Amino acid sequence: MEKFIIEGGKPLKGEIKVSGSKNATLPILAATLLTDGICEIRNVPRLRDTMTMCKLLRSLGKTVEMTPQKVTISGSVKNHIADYKLVSTMRGSFCVLGPLLAKLGKAKVSMPGGCVIGVRPIDLHMKGIMSLGVKADIDAGYVLAQTNKLKGTQMYLGGTFGSSVLATANVMMAAVLAHGETVIESAACEPEVEDLGNFLSAMGAKIQGHGTPRIVINGVRKLNGTSYKMGSDRIEAGTFLLLAAAAKSDILVKEANYTHLLALIDKLHSIGVEVTRDGSDVRVKVKKTLRPANIVTHPHPGFPTDLQAQYMALMAITPGVSIITDRVFPDRFMHIAELNRMGAQIRRDAGVAIIEGVKQLYGAPVMASDLRASAALVIAGLVSRGKTEIHRIYHLDRGYEDLDGKLSGIGAKVYREKE
Ligand code: EPZ
Repeated sequence: MEKFIIEGGKPLKGEIKVSGSKNATLPILAATLLTDGICEIRNVPRLRDTMTMCKLLRSLGKTVEMTPQKVTISGSVKNHIADYKLVSTMRGSFCVLGPLLAKLGKAKVSMPGGCVIGVRPIDLHMKGIMSLGVKADIDAGYVLAQTNKLKGTQMYLGGTFGSSVLATANVMMAAVLAHGETVIESAACEPEVEDLGNFLSAMGAKIQGHGTPRIVINGVRKLNGTSYKMGSDRIEAGTFLLLAAAAKSDILVKEANYTHLLALIDKLHSIGVEVTRDGSDVRVKVKKTLRPANIVTHPHPGFPTDLQAQYMALMAITPGVSIITDRVFPDRFMHIAELNRMGAQIRRDAGVAIIEGVKQLYGAPVMASDLRASAALVIAGLVSRGKTEIHRIYHLDRGYEDLDGKLSGIGAKVYREKE
């Protein structure tokens, strides 16, 4: 295992480039199961999670070749069992369920299980595929599902906490090869769903409305291989915007999609951060003292839950009081205790985090608990006085490509050491 050592307080400046989107890549890799043709996907981020998905595709019978430029997937799916060992390490792998059902008419997929950000049920996935004519059961930790024929239908896919990104993806991937028309109401509108719809269209699927709450799919008999370039990762980009704001730096975030980040940028403007679009890049500048502001996370286009922890790190060093509510994952607050170890003043009261911003954080040994909590600790470490050690950084390697290399490029002093 490795840890990050960060020597805080170094001035940060320059350009930092965003990689391809992790959460868009995972369902798109799963969608390649829907064809026997060759799929070439470029700008795939080199991350533990994308590697895990490639391993899972191989275990299902596909041939996967990787070069620094692209991932090429060919061959036919032969196996319908997605093993516990691969699915339990990464919830994204649960979205092989839809494509396996569409291609083979049966699937045995390990349940993904809970994780530190909350309970994470699968009821919406089950409801969605079952309304397409699938019989599904849960046995010994696996979802056992089969169908003679997938049939299009109209369904409502909203849940207690709003729409579900991966349930929408699973249903879309089953419906593209179903008989007739499927209408998904209350579909997730995240850019990752839009990307999946674009990829499926490039494979020959008939799909409309992806990126809106109403997706209409007309099933086709067969899909072809295709070539596709992944767009940039909005959460990595947002993390860099928040880092620039916390470090009071002038940083150009290259390949950041401004439109995908409107809720964050709007909030940053309101607290005094200058954020401007510069072609396909976004520039962040801080010229004055920042003000605190509350956030409530919501499904897209609301403030993303995946930037909540990083925003908390910014509020921790913004004098004044702010309140954070996570309406997507109400228990996603593991980072509070670790930020407090660095001198932050944050307390949790019922479903909210109350932050009393302090003038300075101090380096400390801290523990990464999940991907975005780890990113919050990196931000805190970079703006702290003294040395921070972040343990268990395998969480970071799941979602941030070459983070230490990228941060070093803007002046940070950060390196890895073996535990
Ligand atoms: C995706 O997870 C992302 N993961 C998550 O990113 C992200 O936090 C989340 O969407 C929300 O934006 C991937 O894309 C691989 P959901 P997903 O189903 O699809 C509830 C990261 O850090 N729900 O949209 O699994 C659920 O409990 C990660 O990169 C049900 O009630 O999330 C939550 O409250 C972590 N029943 C809400 O819906 C279900 O069947 C949204 O979850 C499914 C979900």
